[in-house]
Amino acid sequence: MVQTPASKTVLVTGGAGFVGSHLVDALVRENEVRILDDFSTGKRSNVNDDATLIEGDIRDSETLRRATEDVDLIFHEAGVVSVQQSVENPIQANEVELDATLALLERARELDARVVLASSCAIYGQPTEIPVSEDEPFSPSSPYGLQKSALDHYARLYEELYGLETVALRYFNIYGPRQSSGDYSGVISIFKRQATNGEPITVDGDGEQTRDFVHVDDVVRANLLAATTDHVGEAYNVGTGASVTIKELAETIRDVSGSSSDVVHTDPRQGDIEESKADISKARDKLGYEPTIPLDEGISSLL
Ligand code: NAD
Ligand code: UD1
Repeated sequence: MVQTPASKTVLVTGGAGFVGSHLVDALVRENEVRILDDFSTGKRSNVNDDATLIEGDIRDSETLRRATEDVDLIFHEAGVVSVQQSVENPIQANEVELDATLALLERARELDARVVLASSCAIYGQPTEIPVSEDEPFSPSSPYGLQKSALDHYARLYEELYGLETVALRYFNIYGPRQSSGDYSGVISIFKRQATNGEPITVDGDGEQTRDFVHVDDVVRANLLAATTDHVGEAYNVGTGASVTIKELAETIRDVSGSSSDVVHTDPRQGDIEESKADISKARDKLGYEPTIPLDEGISSLL
């Protein structure tokens, strides 16, 4: 049973996006929830009617101030999601991922509000050990990974230096309903779109790269646990502890959807990580986190 925050004034940045909107849905019954989103990738149809929407850019200090007024808990989901986009435009990614996050942490310090931040396993780059634990040194291979490393480290420093309650959640590859399916989206939603439309399923490189796919409902549970844990000032892997190759994933999605799409191979992606699988023992022990949706089940219900 997950302990859920109650009677709080909560801000979810990126609350119109994939992860943020599911999180808002889980919070609105027991809390006053605010969403800050600029709809750069989020959708209006994701906005929960019981939440208050503040439309604007988190990089704008006045908007940030308004959105954070009187909050006591912040889930920071607004950010760049595409590793590829950060390679193409590192400066813009840095402004959103890092400059805005630092301003948010400063504001949280004024308010003494707990902050749960969306970090990423991209900070590990190509890990030296699989499954990868939180002790793995940071070795990012993309601007996105580098920016998340700094965000993750800032979260820890704010707890150490100022006593601010922070938790960084190092998400692995999230999938589930409402994930957008554009060219910069997560691979499962792209493969689903391609399989459904009978288009070729495009595997980058040889497809031997592996990922640990975690369902968004489990990611929401990890966030709720992070909001109430005593173990703050820490970072936790949020994955499942299992992984698949991208080639296997393409074939599974084609077969489960009954599609006649061909699986084709394109050039490998710049900055791509070869192997990824989470060691989730720390999240298990300290947060009480347990993934509940195996990939085959999650894919079947999605398709
Ligand atoms: P998403 O793109 O669906 O959600 C991000 C939301 O933030 C969108 O609604 C977008 O409109 C909003 N946003 C972006 N820039 C903004 C700005 N400048 N001001 C205000 N709002 C802004 O992405 P998601 O998959 O829900 O990811 C949420 C967070 O989790 C991101 O920080 C992402 O880097 C991180 N993350 C995601 C994954 C994954 O697999 N999806 C894995 C690791 C980490
Ligand atoms: C994803 C997230 C990122 C997060 C990271 C954590 C997205 C868009 N990005 O990055 O925010 O921090 O997980 O691990 O959700 N691929 C194909 N064909 C395609 C698309 C992708 O073969 O059409 C391959 C990629 O080359 C990669 C794998 O699938 O090897 C996963 O790609 P993607 O879904 O973009 O995720 P990550 O780059 O792992």
